[in-house]
Amino acid sequence: MEKFKHYGVKNGHLYIGGVDCAELIDKFGTPCYVMDANRIENTFKAFNDAFVKENMLGGISYASKAFSCKEIYREIKALNGYIDVVSGGELFTALSVDFPAEKVFFHGNAKTYDEIEYAVKNKVGVIVIDSYDEACYINEIAFSQNLVQNVMIRINPGIEAHTHHYVQTAKIDSKFGFSVFNGEANNIVKFVLGKKNLNLVGFHCHIGSQIFEQKSFILAANKMADFYAGIKGLFNLSFDKLNLGGGFGVWYFNGDKSFEYGDYTSSVSEILSTVKIEFNKRNLSVPAVFFEPGRSIVAEAGITLYKVNAVKKIPDIKTYLAVDGGMFENPRFALYQARYTVLNPLKMDEEFTEKYTIAGKCCESGDIIAEDVLLPKTVAGDYLCVLSTGAYNYSMASNYNRNLIPPVVFVKNGKAYLAVKKQSYEDLVRNDV
Ligand code: LLP
Repeated sequence: MEKFKHYGVKNGHLYIGGVDCAELIDKFGTPCYVMDANRIENTFKAFNDAFVKENMLGGISYASKAFSCKEIYREIKALNGYIDVVSGGELFTALSVDFPAEKVFFHGNAKTYDEIEYAVKNKVGVIVIDSYDEACYINEIAFSQNLVQNVMIRINPGIEAHTHHYVQTAKIDSKFGFSVFNGEANNIVKFVLGKKNLNLVGFHCHIGSQIFEQKSFILAANKMADFYAGIKGLFNLSFDKLNLGGGFGVWYFNGDKSFEYGDYTSSVSEILSTVKIEFNKRNLSVPAVFFEPGRSIVAEAGITLYKVNAVKKIPDIKTYLAVDGGMFENPRFALYQARYTVLNPLKMDEEFTEKYTIAGKCCESGDIIAEDVLLPKTVAGDYLCVLSTGAYNYSMASNYNRNLIPPVVFVKNGKAYLAVKKQSYEDLVRNDV
């Protein structure tokens, strides 16, 4: 139960952010995503503290692909943070709450012309280039707008971080970035430097997601220092920004390492200090450093509440608890065999004696939320709570089987409020012609 200290248990009920799950279920129904805003703020601040500690410029750019809606952009804006967006849709959502455009990094390996035009016209801070074609589009659009666009180039430092292969991004054969090994990175730098309406401010790398090995980040910092030195040698240019991406691991279930706020501060501090040392060693000026954590800012702040619609026992094999959610609101088991911790939020005082598999309601055998989890005896009509669902759940939700995307509720200082309404049937047919 050590891990539940960020929650609370009173009279057999699970609390999140000081609010009883029974109250949340009553008020907002199920399925329902719940986000603890105080926890998001504390985590964000812990990341930021590293910059104060190391006396370094730069900052935290929340990777909003992990969880995007107006309310999270308001939160990050209030925290004076930066954001990373990867589509016109994320950018639109952020700008719709007046998120400062100059604090936006725009990523993506296949940005559309329209998205680039939208970003340039709205004066986003930095566009991170991931192809020659894109460099040409940005230059052309910036020229037509009579402005110069700040850009970075995404570099692939060729590091294999230990994580699921779908979420590894800096492998040598990756679709992302320009490799440091085959001269491609140097070639794109030359190309971008030749474009009058592009202002190259530095380089970016992101080595993967759900990374627990600190040494992978340290290695990335080293490789990037080598790369900056190589560029200095080739072009006699220094760049004052470096973006090291995101990827910090989070706790999902018992076997996972669990991070306290301060652990993120120390992890980032160590990387920042490595940057200082390695850039100094190579006689390079120390750049402002940016990180792009997504998952680590929001994952553990989120839970999902479900109702058990049916219990199906297959004698001697397994017992399914079929819930009112599924892969349409959490596709991560289906995609990555992701593991989660499941609780019965209204039976917290009971012994965890039964083994269940939590199945979703989609017409697909692979529609599982969690396999073989221990819970108190649970019957149809009971509720379940899945922990650490704040990242890549709502943002990856779909209307598969025309199921409705659940509402998102924020809890803050002991109060719950709606951040995203539940979809309606009318929403489903709104664009049908
Ligand atoms: N920056 C870039 C360029 C990225 O591609 C990503 C994630 C991040 C930052 C944020 O990484 P994070 O701190 O969240 O690990 N859907 C998958 C995760 C895909 C991550 C893609 N890129 C999942 O559910 O596990």
